[in-house]
Amino acid sequence: MTAVGGAPREVLVVAAAAFAHTAAALLAEAIGAAVTARGKCRIVLAGGRTPAAVYRLLAVDATIPWAQVSAFIGDERCVPPDHADSNYRMISETLLSLVSIGDDRIFRLRGELGGAAAAAEYDVMLDALSGQPKFDIVISGMGADGHTASLFPGDPTVERATGWAMSSVAPPQFAISDRAGLTLRALNATRLQVVLCTGNDKQSVRRRILSDAPEAASLPVARLSGMERTVWIVDPD
Ligand code: 6PG
Repeated sequence: MTAVGGAPREVLVVAAAAFAHTAAALLAEAIGAAVTARGKCRIVLAGGRTPAAVYRLLAVDATIPWAQVSAFIGDERCVPPDHADSNYRMISETLLSLVSIGDDRIFRLRGELGGAAAAAEYDVMLDALSGQPKFDIVISGMGADGHTASLFPGDPTVERATGWAMSSVAPPQFAISDRAGLTLRALNATRLQVVLCTGNDKQSVRRRILSDAPEAASLPVARLSGMERTVWIVDPD
């Protein structure tokens, strides 16, 4: 399977019952390996619903050296952090509030500021972050339309963005339109890219992406890759 500029895609097809465990095991191993190799691990956490079960398993995995981990947020819906639609709220409730990761190592994307201001603030923070690549691990999700994070198909700014964070407007089918999140450049500035994709509603788009259908190549999620590994964890067709 080809990938765009990064490591070739590896596709793990996992039955729904084993999905969260497989993803959590792979991520726990990768976090440990990063800390062993470099003394620290920078991880970007995805929003949406799919990662929640994975985060809950990571939260109870005593082998993970959380004190050496820094956590970033892939994108945010521009609502307060206690709002039901807040990605940070989900990530905090299922993981960050349950593990010994210092507040100074949690880099929240302040959606409550509004998309433009939140993205600008996060872009400055990420730009100042030393190290190449910026991240050790990026966890990403996929929408049925082929979006990832808050990068939506047909949005010309996805291609044009040269910074690390950007604001965007979600299409009408999404509850929260005002968004902020990492650019493609930032999502791909990682050693390991893990795309979590389950659900019947996503199968047709996913099938076209993973079979390298030309018309699917420009979808934001299809543009994701890691410099060392690009792993898609999917449920069976
Ligand atoms: C968001 C996410 C988004 C998500 C996909 C998949 O803010 O909604 O960042 O990109 O990953 O929409 O969402 P589900 O996991 O809920 O299907």
